[in-house]
Amino acid sequence: MGNPKKTLWGGRFSTNLTSESVAFTHSIEADTRLIVYDIWGSKAHAIMLAQQEIISDTDLQEILRWLCKAEEDYQNGTFTLDPNKEDVHMNVESYLIDNVGIELGGKLHTARSRNDQVLVDARLYIRDEILTIQRGISTLCDAFLTIAKDHVDTVMPGYTHTQHAQPISLGFWATAYVSMFLRDQKRLQSAYELANTNPLGACALAGTTFPIDRNLTTKLLGFDSPHEHALDVISSRDFIAETLFALSLVMANLSRLSEEIIYWTSYEYGIAVLDDAYSSGSSIMPQKKNPDIAELTRGRTGRVYGALIDLLTNLKGLPMGYNRDFQEDKPPLWEAFDIVKSCLGILPNLLKTTEFKTERMSELVNANFATATELANYLVKKHQISFRESHEIVGWLVGELVENERTFTDLELTHNLLKQKDMDIPIAQLKQILDAELAIQNNQSLGGTSPTEVSRMIDNFEQQLNEMAMHVSSCQTKIDDAYKESQRIVKNVLKGSAEPSVGE
Ligand code: ARG
Repeated sequence: MGNPKKTLWGGRFSTNLTSESVAFTHSIEADTRLIVYDIWGSKAHAIMLAQQEIISDTDLQEILRWLCKAEEDYQNGTFTLDPNKEDVHMNVESYLIDNVGIELGGKLHTARSRNDQVLVDARLYIRDEILTIQRGISTLCDAFLTIAKDHVDTVMPGYTHTQHAQPISLGFWATAYVSMFLRDQKRLQSAYELANTNPLGACALAGTTFPIDRNLTTKLLGFDSPHEHALDVISSRDFIAETLFALSLVMANLSRLSEEIIYWTSYEYGIAVLDDAYSSGSSIMPQKKNPDIAELTRGRTGRVYGALIDLLTNLKGLPMGYNRDFQEDKPPLWEAFDIVKSCLGILPNLLKTTEFKTERMSELVNANFATATELANYLVKKHQISFRESHEIVGWLVGELVENERTFTDLELTHNLLKQKDMDIPIAQLKQILDAELAIQNNQSLGGTSPTEVSRMIDNFEQQLNEMAMHVSSCQTKIDDAYKESQRIVKNVLKGSAEPSVGE
């Protein structure tokens, strides 16, 4: 006889797995996050089986009763996942079978496989996580918009190659991030849509001979549609790759923001000061105030990229059908979600509490020829020369001033040098041309740094953010409504109503 059988799939096996085989193959840590989704999926499946008269209404009642109990026991800590039962699916099914017996409990897995089940659980979980992350991005964008509104005419140097380029406003800088993160929102929305198709009913890979209704489980689980092709959906993890790619770009963008926070708060830049509550000290150097949160965000980015590369590498060698390699998709995805959520949890507050040193910004913007392009543009407009000729003259001028250790602030020398090139510009006029504040006022081309354009973009982005928030909340409502509808049917069945009253 040997040991009693431990697994529900052990019929053809003459011995149990060794403890090392169990330890090697189980997925309990990752699966713990899936219990509630697994139970929801099981309820929807059971309701559908009864509706299609594959199981009886009394079977359904017992199955639902114990699935509810499993959920309750999980919430109160008396039902925890056992590694000996391999994964969340076998644990939930075993819970049922242990309580009602295999004759009845064993019916739940009719016309279902763990292969479609695991995809249901993952997709339901991913939906919630993506919506949470989208809300986090909106909060971050709101923080940027607050900065933008306060600083549409605060001048600072805009950089290219990390060198002073042209004057921009702090508001212009802040709205650039909003513009950037709005694309992350779209990528996440698209990943959400790819994840939101129903795998249930694909079974192991080939569909089933039972007369199942995949549209019903689609509705009960709030999916947009059944994922039509059984073999394709069972073999699919590209929705996870899409999600990880979207998360990787969110991290790339957060890391770039962090990088700016790190050097803006350095002594050399000195244009931003972190709130004490969002910085760290040194154990040895008493004077230190470090931007650790930004550094950790930058430092954790690689882990999210790693998750993407991990999954892509996993997928490249896999033939059609379920392969156990797929089990490895979850831990890196969970980690990526956790990192992105924690960064998005803290960075909006860090931004909101950061003080921007506007005087230092203005000092810098006047220190290093940031308005040279304005002067070149002026010569084109007022002295009838081509831009290339004008560029040459202003370049020469800058070279001379640098040689003399002067800047445009020495208006007299600037005036005299320009005169040598037959460009006689009155000092008062020159002062205006080289004024950084006037420069940003005048950059009124579409999408430029002028306060009018920045204000227009603030309105535009606010509207896009509102639309995105409405979209996120309608996705959430669809999930919540589907969950409530499933629960309503469950309650009806448990009350003993003969009909589950699906679709009322
Ligand atoms: N733990 C598995 C996973 O995460 C669930 C599906 C197992 N299916 C199987 N046929 N072994 O992918």
